[in-house]
Amino acid sequence: MSRANPSGSLAAYVRDLPKAELHLHIEGTLEPELALRLAHKHGVALPFADAAELRAAYDFSDLQSFLDLYYALAEVLRDGDDFYRLGLSYMQRAHEQGVVHAEIFFDPQTHTARGIAFGAVVEGLRLACTEAERRFGMTHRLIACFLRHLSAAEANRTLDEVLEHREIVTAVGLDSSEVGHPPSKFAAVFDRAREQGLLTVAHAGEEGPPAYIHEALDLLGVRRIDHGVRCEEDPALVRRLIREQIALTVCPLSNVKLGVFDRIEDHNLKRLLEAGLRVTVNSDDPAYFGGYLLENYLAVERALGLTRAQLATLARNSIAGSFLDADAKRRWIDLIDSRSDDEPAA
Ligand code: ADE
Ligand code: ZN
Repeated sequence: MSRANPSGSLAAYVRDLPKAELHLHIEGTLEPELALRLAHKHGVALPFADAAELRAAYDFSDLQSFLDLYYALAEVLRDGDDFYRLGLSYMQRAHEQGVVHAEIFFDPQTHTARGIAFGAVVEGLRLACTEAERRFGMTHRLIACFLRHLSAAEANRTLDEVLEHREIVTAVGLDSSEVGHPPSKFAAVFDRAREQGLLTVAHAGEEGPPAYIHEALDLLGVRRIDHGVRCEEDPALVRRLIREQIALTVCPLSNVKLGVFDRIEDHNLKRLLEAGLRVTVNSDDPAYFGGYLLENYLAVERALGLTRAQLATLARNSIAGSFLDADAKRRWIDLIDSRSDDEPAA
C-alpha cells in the first residue's frame, strides 16, 4: 500500500487505510451467482430463473422483509465446502478493499435447524479464514450469533455447541428480528457465555428502541453495539456511550436499504462521530445491500461530506473497537496515523 497522497483519489485513500470490519454476516455475503451455483449443486429449487431475477428481489421495506429472503436463500449452504467458498470469497474481496482484520458473524441456528452440523459450518469458515491469513495476511475472529426470534432455551443449546468449538469462536452475538425480542430475553445465556470466557456483542437500536441498547450493556455485558443508531433518541445513553467508548458498528447502506433512514443523506453517522462516539463503518450483508466496506465508506463520505481526517478516524475506531490484542491495535493505528498525517485528526 502506498503512502496516501492528499491530491490522490479519495477511493484510493480510503482503500489504503488499514480497516477492520466488525459487523459482517457471512450469510449476507452470498452473491446471487454463488447462490444459484450452490442451488444447482445441491438440487435445491429456488424461485428465481437467474441472478438478475434474484437481484431484482432485493427490494426491502424493513428488516423482516430482508430476513425472509435471507433465511430462504441460506437453504443452499449445505456442506463445509460451501462455507469455505463463501468465507474465502468474502475475505478476498475485503482484502482488495483494505480490510486487514475481519470479525465475522455466523448464524448457527439457521443451519443446524436444517440438519447441517455446527462443526461443518465452523470448520468451513475456519479453513477459509486460515487460508486468507496465509494468502493475504488478514486476521479474523468468528462470532456465533443467536437468533433472537427463537427461544432462550434454543440459544442455550446453541451455546453448548459453541463451547464444543471454543478455540474457534471468540464471541457470541444476537441478531435477527429485533422488535419484541429484547436483550433481556437472553440475559442468562449471555451470563453463561461470559462465564465461559466468551466475549459478547449484540444488535441493538437498529429498529429497536434505545432501551435495548441499555439492556445489551447492562444485562449482556456487550463490548460493542451492532448498529446502535437509535441511541441518539436518548441523550443520557449517548453520554454513556461516549464516556465508556463503546464502539457502534454502523452499517450505512444497510440502514437505507432496510428503511432505518430514508436516504443516505439523512444518516446520523456524522453527527454521532462529531459528538465523540466510537463510530465504525461496516457492511452488514453486502451482497444484499449494494456494497462492501469501501462502498459504505464512500457512500457516507459523499452524502455527508466527511473529511479525510474523519475517514481516518473511522478506520482508527474500527481497529480500536476490534478484539485484536493491544499490540496489534497499536501497530495498525500507528500505520493509519502515518497515512493520515497530512491533516489534523478530527
Ligand atoms: N441478520 C443479518 N443482518 C441483520 C441485521 N441487519 N439485523 C438483524 N439481524 C440480521
Ligand atoms: Zn447485522
